[in-house]
Amino acid sequence: MSVQRVAVIGLGAMGAPIARRLLGNGCQVTVWNRSPQRAVALREAGAAVGTSPADAVRGAETVIVTVADPQALVAVTEGEHGIAAGVLPGAVVVQMSTVSPSSVTRLAHALPPGTGLLDAPVLGSVAEAASGALRVLVGGPPELVERCLPLLAQLGAPSRVGALGAGSAAKLVANNALFGVLGVLGESLALGGALGLSWEALHEVLGATPLAEQAARRRPALEAGDHPARFALALARKDADLVADAVTDAGLGLGLTAAARDWLADAERAGGADQDYSAVLPHILHTATKGPQRCT
Ligand SMILES: NC(=O)c1ccc[n+]([C@@H]2O[C@H](COP(=O)([O-])OP(=O)(O)OC[C@H]3O[C@@H](n4cnc5c(N)ncnc54)[C@H](OP(=O)(O)O)[C@@H]3O)[C@@H](O)[C@H]2O)c1
Repeated sequence: MSVQRVAVIGLGAMGAPIARRLLGNGCQVTVWNRSPQRAVALREAGAAVGTSPADAVRGAETVIVTVADPQALVAVTEGEHGIAAGVLPGAVVVQMSTVSPSSVTRLAHALPPGTGLLDAPVLGSVAEAASGALRVLVGGPPELVERCLPLLAQLGAPSRVGALGAGSAAKLVANNALFGVLGVLGESLALGGALGLSWEALHEVLGATPLAEQAARRRPALEAGDHPARFALALARKDADLVADAVTDAGLGLGLTAAARDWLADAERAGGADQDYSAVLPHILHTATKGPQRCT
């Protein structure tokens, strides 16, 4: 079997371990990152480094994109140095950043005719990216998804959730659920504390509720007061904003969704942008005790 030629654009917390994993599996990998220092370790591990997104994708059969947000996706895709300017005819772009379905539509229009495109955002974080245990939510034509399954399976468990854009829609639904659960967990902890329950009793009762798994998972970090960043709070707030836009576009009114977004935005404004998104929990515990007038 011939060696797969893959370009990875964006070497942040997720892109770097994805590129490293593909390298380790024997793919021929070319990378590009806006801040060049993030490519140094990958160059040392055997990756080629492009001078621009267009340059990096020139020889690739598959282009994986993992950048922060919709603006970053436009920046690496469009213009004379963007992916669209360099991508090979017949190559497939696999868009793995968390963006809106409308960003995926814009990307589809920006790419030259004949370029394959899948939207494939992921569930899981840095550890799952490194170990190939991501859940990949894929949107796109069935035959193209089928063609890309062997590569995507190197990163985790891919499943097709619908046509192009459905991957991003599914990812927004998943993060909406996650942020809502964290918000309710934080508020339940705040309520229990205010009602005089001990920390132990509070966890005992939460362990008997639908929040049990998250309460147990977040407890050690809350007790240590340490939330090392894996998924930055600023990115989570960005995702919550994408959800809010999608809610508006769909003509819905979703109060819990809006409240969860407000907590993330509050925590970011309070200085937590670079902390892990789970730092929203101590923020809720601290802020809720000040009464009902929290600013949103
Ligand atoms: N971390 C997680 O646990 C996780 C889990 C699931 C999904 N995601 C999603 O995966 C994507 C990447 O997340 P991450 O955690 O890897 O983020 P990250 O560590 O903050 O890295 C962001 C990447 O985007 C690049 N970037 C940002 N703005 C740019 C611009 N204007 N032009 C070009 N490049 C730009 C950054 O380049 P520089 O290095 O130059 O800043 C970096 O390579 C995001 O959409 C995130 O929501 C993350």
